[in-house]
Amino acid sequence: MPGFIQITDTHIVAPGALAYGRSDTAEALHRAVATINAKLPVLDGIDCVIVTGDLTDHGTPEEYAHFAAIMAELELPWQAVPGNHDRRDAMRAAFAPAPWMPEDGPIHWVRDFGPFSVIGLDTLLEGAHHGELSLEGVGFLDAALAAIGAQPVVIASHHPWMHSGIPAMDADNLHGGGALMSRLEAHPAPARMISGHVHRAVTGQIGRVTCQISPATCHAVLTDHRVGHDPQLTIEPGGITVFRWSTAPQPGLLSDIIPTGSFSGPWPFADRPAEWEPRPLQNRDQQI
Ligand SMILES: [Fe+2]
Ligand SMILES: [Fe+2]
Repeated sequence: MPGFIQITDTHIVAPGALAYGRSDTAEALHRAVATINAKLPVLDGIDCVIVTGDLTDHGTPEEYAHFAAIMAELELPWQAVPGNHDRRDAMRAAFAPAPWMPEDGPIHWVRDFGPFSVIGLDTLLEGAHHGELSLEGVGFLDAALAAIGAQPVVIASHHPWMHSGIPAMDADNLHGGGALMSRLEAHPAPARMISGHVHRAVTGQIGRVTCQISPATCHAVLTDHRVGHDPQLTIEPGGITVFRWSTAPQPGLLSDIIPTGSFSGPWPFADRPAEWEPRPLQNRDQQI
């Protein structure tokens, strides 16, 4: 079954530097890439990585070159939308030969996975931390949704419209996102929005649209529900999110957040008690 892996907020800085003086974002991206490469033999149908913004911390050519060098180790193709820490011209110059990169303007794209499509939406408003979907972006979205027709859709953007519950981050979410969500509400098939920016794994529901924020590959943002407090970074395990289409019990998209790094195992359940042995299906269903 087709699928993809989302990574987000890699915040790559110059080689040898730490983001915010504390976060080794290059090491974190190396770890994420190694985790993906190590998982691929046991994953089915995953054919690309989608990066939902903040590829770099300052949007410089040097940082994009550093990002590209680390991503060259990845055994899958990747494509990306920019975040508030990116700069469109430098990002385009770094990755211009990529088939998903538009020749000019915002970095939107559409990728058809068969049972569903992903629309990458550029929400970067240069000079601001919050995101915005421009009139041009709404036009791109309308055309893409019309082309998709009745296919389930995933919107991949850096800025979420959903609030995370962290007021300091929610102030800089996608402003004017109602125009996007009203279109997803009207879409004649399941719709989901996947984002980054908050550096935490958050899931919510807005109307009939499932909204997800993936953890960053690098530092996290402290869960802090108090109003009037600046955001603070914490060093927590990074994560990747595996999305895979499932046909059972009904067609739909599954997501699995996997921490990056190497951990002990896997181990067989060889010495499990006899009562753990699988029961015949009909008996299991009767007992539920
Ligand atoms: Fe970020
Ligand atoms: Fe961001």
